Amino acid sequence: MQSELLESEKIRAARAAVQLVPEDATLAIGSGSTAHHAIKALAARFPGGGGLRCVASSRRSEEIARRFSLQVITLEEVERFDLMIDGADEVAPNLTLIKGGGGALFREKLLARMSNQLVIMVDHSKLVRRLGERSPLPVEVVPFAVPYVARELQRRALLPTLRMSSSTTVEGEPLPFVTDNGNHVLDCRVPTEVLDEKSWDEELRSTPGVVETGLFVGMAQLVEVGLPDGRVEELRPREAVRRPTAISVLEQALGEGSRSAPNPATPRKRAEKKERAPRLGRRRKASAATTP
Ligand code: A5P
Repeated sequence: MQSELLESEKIRAARAAVQLVPEDATLAIGSGSTAHHAIKALAARFPGGGGLRCVASSRRSEEIARRFSLQVITLEEVERFDLMIDGADEVAPNLTLIKGGGGALFREKLLARMSNQLVIMVDHSKLVRRLGERSPLPVEVVPFAVPYVARELQRRALLPTLRMSSSTTVEGEPLPFVTDNGNHVLDCRVPTEVLDEKSWDEELRSTPGVVETGLFVGMAQLVEVGLPDGRVEELRPREAVRRPTAISVLEQALGEGSRSAPNPATPRKRAEKKERAPRLGRRRKASAATTP
């Protein structure tokens, strides 16, 4: 039941994001179940694919996009994307993200860097107070370098764990997970003492053998959050640090509403929020959460 509710929140967040996609956009599409809901919503909004030109961040998303008749192009044909729409594993109050739960972090981050806007779509359970609360940080590593990188990450107390796949050898031995780029993933603890997320990310990425991390700092311009009450909340970096309604909804859901910072869902804060004109759209009442 809980997972059905979260699924309907993802669908609503995905539909809200798809409303922001201009006709004839050059669009980057992310990976994971929410991105897949977005592909279906795109197909419903632009029958036959319309004038959209898309690049997907995983083979799986690309396959689904083709199945829904979206025009899939290659990176050779794109200099910049108008927009990227993608899911996330965690969204912190300052809109720093952890991504890569599905292992597509490298392509996701590359496409996000090539995009004028990154719009993230999540259910409310992805909102966290601190990164690492519910998901490890994935680090994609060249297979040959895994022992070295694992030792380096261990030295920094990040407790790296090699992600395994569901496949096994003929002898029944578990096999490591392999990304679309032929690499492995080390899932790491996020230390509480990280103050400067950007420098920390750069430090991790400068380790020889590390291809990319799933830490997205300062990249999301907008997060569409499906809420349990049927609404979709739009978070932007400036508003996010003010702990918006979505965070208080999360706190209430967790039964911790009175524990932390003052509840921002007061009439005064709401009035403040209304005064700031959003750039990409406004909070919207969601439509019924059925698959398009
Ligand atoms: C894929 O590698 C990830 O970054 C996904 O975007 C993330 O795991 C969210 O997935 P869901 O939309 O399935 O929750």
